[in-house]
Amino acid sequence: MYRTHTCGELRSQHTGNEVTLAGWVQTVRKFGSITFVDLRDRYGITQLLFNEQLNSLLDKNPLGREFVIQVKGVVLERSNKNNKIPTGDIEIGVAEFKIMNSANTPPFTIEEETDGGDELRMKYRYLDLRRPVLKRNMELRYRVNRSVRNYLDTQGFWDIETPFLIRSTPEGARDFVVPSRMNEGQFYALPQSPQTFKQLLMVSGYDRYYQIVKCFRDEDLRADRQPEFTQIDCEMSFVEQEDILNIFEGLFKHVFKDVKGIEMTEAFPRMTFDDAMWHYGNDKPDIRFEMKIRNLKVEGKIQDGCPLAEGAFKVFDDAQTILAIAVPGCAEYTRKQIDELTEWVKRPQIGMSGVVNVKCNADGTFKSSVDKFFNEEKLKEFAAYCHAKAGDLILILAGAETRTRKAMSELRLEMGNRLGLRNPAVYKPIWVIDFPLFEYDEEGNHWVARHHPFTSPKPDHIALMNDLSRYGEIKANAYDMVLNGTEIGGGSIRIYQRDLQEKMFAALGMSKEEAQDKFGFLMGAFEYGAPPHGGLAFGFDRLCSLLGGQESIRDFIAFPKNNSGRDVMLDAPSGIDESQRKELGL
Ligand code: AMO
Repeated sequence: MYRTHTCGELRSQHTGNEVTLAGWVQTVRKFGSITFVDLRDRYGITQLLFNEQLNSLLDKNPLGREFVIQVKGVVLERSNKNNKIPTGDIEIGVAEFKIMNSANTPPFTIEEETDGGDELRMKYRYLDLRRPVLKRNMELRYRVNRSVRNYLDTQGFWDIETPFLIRSTPEGARDFVVPSRMNEGQFYALPQSPQTFKQLLMVSGYDRYYQIVKCFRDEDLRADRQPEFTQIDCEMSFVEQEDILNIFEGLFKHVFKDVKGIEMTEAFPRMTFDDAMWHYGNDKPDIRFEMKIRNLKVEGKIQDGCPLAEGAFKVFDDAQTILAIAVPGCAEYTRKQIDELTEWVKRPQIGMSGVVNVKCNADGTFKSSVDKFFNEEKLKEFAAYCHAKAGDLILILAGAETRTRKAMSELRLEMGNRLGLRNPAVYKPIWVIDFPLFEYDEEGNHWVARHHPFTSPKPDHIALMNDLSRYGEIKANAYDMVLNGTEIGGGSIRIYQRDLQEKMFAALGMSKEEAQDKFGFLMGAFEYGAPPHGGLAFGFDRLCSLLGGQESIRDFIAFPKNNSGRDVMLDAPSGIDESQRKELGL
């Protein structure tokens, strides 16, 4: 038997017991003629005491960090207790020990805080995973997974696997492709999601499907994006949007209670896409704090009640859109701080030429970077329009609509960060609903599906699909769940009739032949009794990272890729042999 107990298990009630432990050497501390060793495994750390006799053996066979050893000994009550760890009341008086495997000195410290850089940690991921922080993340991920499965099981969902070697699924990213040896010159695509399969399972009558499943997307990576990531993918039949929102709000509440002990009793707020863009500048509003955007001028039109008048300030006159936020308690920002903010908005990622400020001083006076153009009375009217209070700093951006709105959304989040209003321990979920069906792709100069082409338009908007000039107005039965400013999940009620699906493909500029070639299987299925259906998918990695209070999903995935999509440990992707290439006809 390798061990009688784990390293996290023994307490003072075990005093006097003879035990065998096995694990990794965390630290070795020599005090005169005795030596203390911290022994670690997944369950915890137990202190070992090597007495004088054993010390001479240790001198011959020194223990190094990360050695794997087995010890036999007696549980002793410690005189010097350590209340920081659960086993801190005891230690093992070692009687015999065996080195089961030695270890090279690890390239970074295996502790809560490490000295290893990102790439080094990725290269030795198996060592990084020994660190308590990663271990906690993996445990959290496992608990979320189990909690999700339990809930969906009680709701009658079946877990059904779908294939990975498929044809392209259009989720808006590039496909990863796999050459076929048996069908030379042809390729499989890896699924960007199981979208079409889960719809086919509804046609098969399986009613409620789910899968915690890998998805593959070749897209530019960010903190919350990996080329292979995991979805909690779900689909239901005979449902309307309301049914779906209810079931999955339930899932969310269940997981939060189960994993975090957080009881979310209130219904999640809902906001239309249009309102989200108007008040927050993006479709994933972080509602942990207010600081809503005030719209002064939009697409050339000064908004009702806005005290702005043409002719006072050229920058404002020339701007298509002018937006403002009132930042609470920042009227005392110094010149230096304002300059720094100006630099911040000028960064290429934000792309503005500057930021106008109005300080609403505590004594009721106003001071502004545009004093020259607006008198104090005007500034006061501005402040009132922006709902600014004494002590607030109003920040104003002016420029082209899309860019300015995006920049204001970023500026709002930045000010939220600076003021500590984005506490990761506070969870504010919200449903964003009524998304547009299409969005215009400026680069490709054509309309694309905002969610995916299987999303149904709102029934009374279907007629608008006959008029290209009105595509922008068409709303879909599509919804996202947003948590703390991150899109955590999204889905839609689907098209389930052949003619509407054909109309949709045509609207996206696909010829009848192309649509038949790519999606004939799905449209064919719709002719054999397809029920109304809908669903959604959650980003499992994102959910875990938010539950763990972090923005990056990487440390919630056991073996992630780096920012260039590489597995640094395996050194993948890599070249292939000439013979393999030949066999594949490449
Ligand atoms: P969507 O494309 O919105 O929908 O994806 C669902 C959720 O998956 C997460 N996600 C990602 N997470 C990590 N890395 C990525 N590269 C990545 N891309 C997406 C997000 C997102 O909300 N088939 C549809 C769902 C449906 O309609 O039912 C789909 O895949 O959290």
